[in-house]
Amino acid sequence: MQNYEDYLDEILITEDQLRQRITELGAQISNDYRGEKLHLICILRGGVMFLTDLMRAIKIPNTVDFMAVSSYGNNRQSTGQVRITLDLKDNIQDRHVLLVEDIVDSGYTIASVLDFLQTRHPKSLKVCTLLNKPERREVEVPIDYCGFDIPNKFVFGYGLDIDEFHRNLPFIACVDLSRYSPSE
Ligand code: IMP
Ligand code: MG
Repeated sequence: MQNYEDYLDEILITEDQLRQRITELGAQISNDYRGEKLHLICILRGGVMFLTDLMRAIKIPNTVDFMAVSSYGNNRQSTGQVRITLDLKDNIQDRHVLLVEDIVDSGYTIASVLDFLQTRHPKSLKVCTLLNKPERREVEVPIDYCGFDIPNKFVFGYGLDIDEFHRNLPFIACVDLSRYSPSE
């Protein structure tokens, strides 16, 4: 098994930059929803690190729930068909819902999840993504809060995986695919 240093291209976003930007997002969200309660929905698994830092930066009362989706396609590209593999525990009707995602790439995942959530009649529904790759968009999706726009490169760390590894790294890194070989 290779070390990530073997195929690290560069560190795109450092731990300090993440901390600072998430503090800003938390302040902005707290301000926008002032006087309200906020229900955060995190899409497993990539969004978990971001969620746990973001919810600590949000200073208004909030609750949290999780869902998981799987997209048909390979590990580095989704295909447009998204299936719910873990449904929410709580009812979202008449609640202010903020969907928390790690990255919006083609947009298919968020688009399907938004359609799915709308059928349950939340009071409001917004999207907060840590990363956005605008160049890759295939379907238009509304993004209300975005941590960072990034170039069209495959990234890992801070919740995002490369073949399920490296979610634990505290920064966002770009992979050099020419030096990467998936482990057995
Ligand atoms: P979309 O449906 O194409 O927008 O893809 C969103 C999902 O693809 C994300 O939630 C990630 O799980 C995965 N993904 C897209 N780009 C990357 C990346 O650069 N690194 C790791 N995962 C990614
Ligand atoms: Mg994800």
